[in-house]
Amino acid sequence: MKKTSRTPSSRPSRKPFKKTAKKAPARAVTVWDQAARWYDALVGVYGTDHHRDIIMPGVFRLMNSRKGDRILDLACGQGVFSRYLASKGMQVEGLDASEELIQYAQSRSKPSIKFHVADARKKEVFEKQQFDAAACILALQNMEKLEPVFQNVAQWLKPEARFVFVITHPCFRIPRQTHWGWDEEKKIEYRRVDRYASELEIPIITPPIASSKVFTMTYHRPLQSYLEALFQAGLGVERLEEWVSGKTSEPGKRAKAENRARKEIPLFMAFCVRRLPVVTKNKSKK
Ligand SMILES: C[S@@+](CC[C@H](N)C(=O)[O-])C[C@H]1O[C@@H](n2cnc3c(N)ncnc32)[C@H](O)[C@@H]1O
Repeated sequence: MKKTSRTPSSRPSRKPFKKTAKKAPARAVTVWDQAARWYDALVGVYGTDHHRDIIMPGVFRLMNSRKGDRILDLACGQGVFSRYLASKGMQVEGLDASEELIQYAQSRSKPSIKFHVADARKKEVFEKQQFDAAACILALQNMEKLEPVFQNVAQWLKPEARFVFVITHPCFRIPRQTHWGWDEEKKIEYRRVDRYASELEIPIITPPIASSKVFTMTYHRPLQSYLEALFQAGLGVERLEEWVSGKTSEPGKRAKAENRARKEIPLFMAFCVRRLPVVTKNKSKK
């Protein structure tokens, strides 16, 4: 797959001794800044049907948070989930690498929600162990590297805190590598999976602009890559859920088969993780 050198940017560091500098250095534009208008048309103020019906209530349930908890919405985009959390009485901070999307977020949210333009791979964004929980919705599959992100989250959370993240299902929803198909003989709707085990970088050109310069990136990884990166960051899976679509087909010849297939093939995978206990070795007496 085509490699891109464009990755989400970090907040430019200030040079402490250069008093003459008037302008902050220009931030590198991320692919999500370029795609911000398209993504906003898709998700809007309140999220897609999937956000509203499945993902946001599901993540909130898995977080098991209490009113007043301090929650991090990692890769918050235009702040749809941040606002949902605030409406449940949480103290929320949202972080995203796209300045454009954070501007949408700020303009639509109460000032009590704090938003940060920052790269989730940079650990200095937050002090250690501040948050009671963190969430990341549909974004880890858009991040080039998992390890630094998981390591940071592990540092930013209080010891018993949960990190809940949702990704598009890594076995059944891989852009350009998975499709629905119709088996005429058996009269069943099936899911075809052409590639799974290889890690892939998949550029997605964003309609309706359809210019090869405006795209987002999806990084497909098999499940074992997620588990290995979590383990390396000292995080263990407490719960894992697979969520199917709630949609139904219009009445027709294939509607029953399509509805059955939707119930069998999950669209999303949700992980609830926590820090693994640190194992201290017993010093054996001789
Ligand atoms: C598909 S959007 C999801 C946004 C939001 N969570 C939602 O559900 O609408 C993916 C988001 O990941 C953000 N992102 C990608 N890489 C990032 C990084 N390294 N640090 C912070 N945000 C990042 C993008 O800017 C984009 O907002």
